[in-house]
Amino acid sequence: MEQKHRRCGAIVLAAGKGSRMKSSVPKQFLPLRGKPVLYYSLAALEAYRADDIVLVSSREEAEYCRREIVEKYAFSRVRSVVLGGRERYHSVYAGLKELERLGYAGADLVLIHDGARPFLDGEILGRVCRDAAQYGACAAGMPSKDTVKLADAAGFAVQTPDRSLVWTVQTPQAFVFSLIRDAYERMMASESSQENVTDDAMVIERMTDCRVRLTEGSYRNMKITTPEDLILAEALMGGADDGYGKRD
Ligand code: CTP
Ligand code: MG
Repeated sequence: MEQKHRRCGAIVLAAGKGSRMKSSVPKQFLPLRGKPVLYYSLAALEAYRADDIVLVSSREEAEYCRREIVEKYAFSRVRSVVLGGRERYHSVYAGLKELERLGYAGADLVLIHDGARPFLDGEILGRVCRDAAQYGACAAGMPSKDTVKLADAAGFAVQTPDRSLVWTVQTPQAFVFSLIRDAYERMMASESSQENVTDDAMVIERMTDCRVRLTEGSYRNMKITTPEDLILAEALMGGADDGYGKRD
């Protein structure tokens, strides 16, 4: 039965160490145009009026997140800062458990987003919420601009998929709550199912029959991963329109 008010919650991930960035401060806290990288996705979710935001951080950074991000910028929809785990999927699982504690169930929606992607905006949020409600599961992504090749372990090309069918996938990824929660519960109960899990759409693909819709993200919705990404992000921020879309 359709719930009267379908809540839309968000899990924002900030518990990674950022090893590829090679910086002593984890990349999600590095300054970008004077504010921490993590600020921007929380601001987009606040402006979109996500009902509840759960921020996932490491034990060392939890207090910093509470004081220097949530309190300092008055993010009123961040309900909790919870501790993440060793792998990204452990951190997502902690976020799902917290939303469950906050009463999420059934047909409520949950958005899962990397705190290291500062270019989230209201248009992307609108599209992923729409598709999650319609299809149960979706992932923001974009058609690949580059030709993609599958390689063998020795580094030789073995296959070239039709480029028009190749997407590179981003976050947010959005799901009906009970679908993603049950998929995660089954995955966490089986070690072999946890191998090489790098995003949440994979958990749905592996553990359920639900098909994951690929939803238009944006080419600027990049993930800050290596040092040159910060330079790129600074440049992209320059022309940024700060008018985040609102949810009706
Ligand atoms: N993340 C997390 N918990 C983990 C690992 C990652 O919450 N155990 C978060 C990161 O903080 C980031 C997002 O997931 O916002 C995407 O992960 P990735 O870009 O791989 O970040 P890191 O794992 O921190 O970086 P690296 O892989 O270079 O170490
Ligand atoms: Mg990582």
